[in-house]
Amino acid sequence: MTPLTEIAHQRIAARLHSGDLAFDLTAGNGWDSLFLAQCVGSAGRVYALDIQQQAIDQTSRLLATHEINWCELHCRSHAELLEFCQEKQLSTAQAIMMNLGYLPGGSHALVTRPESTLAAIQFAVELLSAGGVMTILAYPRHEGGAEELQLVQQTLSELNSEQFEIETMAGSTAKSPVLFVIQKNA
Ligand SMILES: C[S@@+](CC[C@H](N)C(=O)[O-])C[C@H]1O[C@@H](n2cnc3c(N)ncnc32)[C@H](O)[C@@H]1O
Repeated sequence: MTPLTEIAHQRIAARLHSGDLAFDLTAGNGWDSLFLAQCVGSAGRVYALDIQQQAIDQTSRLLATHEINWCELHCRSHAELLEFCQEKQLSTAQAIMMNLGYLPGGSHALVTRPESTLAAIQFAVELLSAGGVMTILAYPRHEGGAEELQLVQQTLSELNSEQFEIETMAGSTAKSPVLFVIQKNA
């Protein structure tokens, strides 16, 4: 079975083009930021946020090895996405990724939390351009993960179905990760 991380990349790649603007709202080890930066190319821009300096440093190193300098990294919570976009005068993004949970290889205490995840999603769906795509990968296995997954599900179910198409993909057990692909209709 194709890993959900790869399916998320496939869905984004189908809609993201050279010169576009994209967000990685959980930079982590930098793999999604690298992927987004490669999709948009040097004519585009990626903004990557993470609350951990360790994640920002790791992402920075990964991007440097690929000679990518069009991805801006910020040690900041995605709960402040609205303020961040106001400061940067950004009003639209073609792709947004959120890979929830904790930093692989890092502290399990520094994990995404339902309240900040909710705040980020609520503004991210507004920020998404018509024809844009957002992916959210949620993990129910760690403490608080099931509640976070439930909140994501609930929030997405309340989106206007004429404006957004939501695809949900999950593994076979109740503890399997769940991928949400949100497409904003053109
Ligand atoms: C599963 S990892 C992300 C994996 C990453 N996308 C990659 O490609 O390697 C989740 C990340 O979310 C970060 N995080 C947790 N709460 C956050 C918040 N409020 N705002 C931004 N990042 C947060 C964690 O520090 C962790 O690095």
